[in-house]
Amino acid sequence: MKIPSNYEIKGKRFVPMISPEEIEQAVVRIAANINNDYQNKIPIFLIVLKGSIIFGADLIRHIAVDCEIKTISAKSYGEKMESSGSVDLNIIEEDFKDKDLIIVEDIVDTGRTLTTLVNNLRKFEPKSIETASLLTKSSMHITDVSIKYVGFDIEPKFVIGYGLDYAEKGRHLPAIYVLDDEN
Ligand code: PRP
Repeated sequence: MKIPSNYEIKGKRFVPMISPEEIEQAVVRIAANINNDYQNKIPIFLIVLKGSIIFGADLIRHIAVDCEIKTISAKSYGEKMESSGSVDLNIIEEDFKDKDLIIVEDIVDTGRTLTTLVNNLRKFEPKSIETASLLTKSSMHITDVSIKYVGFDIEPKFVIGYGLDYAEKGRHLPAIYVLDDEN
């Protein structure tokens, strides 16, 4: 797939880091692992808005077991390039008791969002909670997160594309782009 060689938002230049083809391979690999692990189960995919809509939509189309989909709203970045430190969650009353939940994230950065989510979801007494994240910055994790299904462990640099934004721009890009070092 032909993609823009660079992309600019608010005077900041981003360059390609992970191609659409590499993303697709990771999505297929993660889905195959989930299909293998959830035979005879009916997992509920919790797609964390907004960033995970693209990854979530691609992932579930490779899922071969019966499953359900729900969306959860979580917000931590605002318009900055660093996680704000506080996480706003919007989990309404759900019947997750004895269910197998799979949280779908585009990226785990500090891990605050995922940790907050998992702690809140435990209150519903699900049977299991696992996480699938396209990207993780393991060197940035400040909480003890366990991510069962990971696409790429990346350097601690700001990335956009494939659902990820900078000031709400760039989510539509079909590749992952990284902030150019020359900015
Ligand atoms: C991003 C991402 C994760 C979270 C990761 O969401 O989708 O949910 O930040 O960061 P953390 O590990 O440091 O908590 P964001 O708050 O940018 O919301 P968005 O998906 O709506 O853009």
